Amino acid sequence: MDLTELFAFLSIPSVSTDPARREDVRRAALWLAERLKARGFRTELHETPLHPILYAERFVDEKAPTVLVYGHYDVQPPDPLELWESPPFSPVVREGRIYARGASDDKGQLFAHVLAAEEAPVNLKFLVEGEEEIGSPHLPPFVRANREKLRADVVLVSDGAMFAPHTPTLTYGLRGLCYLEVRLRGARRDLHSGAFGGVAPNPIQALGWLLARLKDEKTGRVLVPGFYERVRPLSEEEKALWPSLDEEALKRELGVEVLPGEEGYSPLERLWARPTLDPNGVWGGYQGEGSKTVIPAEAGMKLSMRLVPDQDPEEVADQAEAYLKAVCPPGYTLEVLRLHGGRPVLTDPFSPPMRLMARALEEVWGRPPVYTREGGTIPVVAELKETLGAPIVLLGLGLPDDNLHAPNEKLDLVNLEKGVEVIRRFHRLLAG
Ligand code: BES
Ligand code: MN
Ligand code: MN
Repeated sequence: MDLTELFAFLSIPSVSTDPARREDVRRAALWLAERLKARGFRTELHETPLHPILYAERFVDEKAPTVLVYGHYDVQPPDPLELWESPPFSPVVREGRIYARGASDDKGQLFAHVLAAEEAPVNLKFLVEGEEEIGSPHLPPFVRANREKLRADVVLVSDGAMFAPHTPTLTYGLRGLCYLEVRLRGARRDLHSGAFGGVAPNPIQALGWLLARLKDEKTGRVLVPGFYERVRPLSEEEKALWPSLDEEALKRELGVEVLPGEEGYSPLERLWARPTLDPNGVWGGYQGEGSKTVIPAEAGMKLSMRLVPDQDPEEVADQAEAYLKAVCPPGYTLEVLRLHGGRPVLTDPFSPPMRLMARALEEVWGRPPVYTREGGTIPVVAELKETLGAPIVLLGLGLPDDNLHAPNEKLDLVNLEKGVEVIRRFHRLLAG
């Protein structure tokens, strides 16, 4: 397989969260537009207040079905750089794997659709954004404003993973996200811990009290009132559809002896069908070498809550904010910032295009697919489902050990090659 084009794509540091990379992000969109034009697509670059949305279309026959491919050309920051075995934006192949930031998430997976587009017997539309990794702030309004343009018989998304190596996988659900930053203030300035210790409020201590009240230590349940109210229970039929998780292998991979979580649910249920609350960062006070005797004026944390149908990110943010304010001890001011959100989504695992994709997967891999949900979030998918009304096919081409968002991100070459073949077969089956 000729990797020249993909390597050029992977070499562009399109880190959407980094203001210093803004021009690089744009360059990635323009580059992709050129590659699609070279394959006969008409392209449109839509400006947003931040990174542009790329739309492209190529019609072969008005009677042929239309596939809308969604993907993202932005990537996560590459830090910490010193842990990469080769530089993140200098793609290389080692032992049958492409190493680069974006190799799996999502440039490599997206590019499989560009490669499969050559001579496709279906009408193709591409909707590619540069803001997925920052929560897709501008894409849902674009989708609502362009529903005619985006109309398709199926929406195809490759931005996830297979359940295990050599295990063709169809995904029919994604969790949503509610992400908050919590800031606590005590005194108006930092205070000498001897001169004021005994009368000074300590926001780090208060943060600890708050943290301890977020989740029950014994049951792992989130204590925010109403949090579970809209959680759709998992049916026995759906559970029976799931593959079984090798818990021992997962423990080994993570280097842990237990897989902690909500009591009464299996690890897969906790990953796919139950919501979570996890502090993703905490700060406050002196963090440098040695000691500094000071009571800080401020402390804070980042809270990530993964949501499942039918939870709503705004409603969960309201619930969490109200609870935090209610349990915050007197003498502190608490501020809650809503950083981003994404709605959870479930799609029909046996819609007609899912059945065709299952056939394509079986033809290429020699075994039928397993059906999974994913714990991660792709914020625009719920919007695509509701606004366009077309069936959604989530075809993850990566693997669970691809190091998404981490150093040494990779994509196995076999996954890329077979992925292209699966997409080609899907096009042919769909065209009939
Ligand atoms: N491709 C991932 C989502 C994903 C991860 C799907 C693993 C399936 C398996 C996506 O690029 C991502 O990282 N999403 C963010 C969304 C957030 C920034 C709003 C996430 O899930 O944290
Ligand atoms: Mn992604
Ligand atoms: Mn990602």
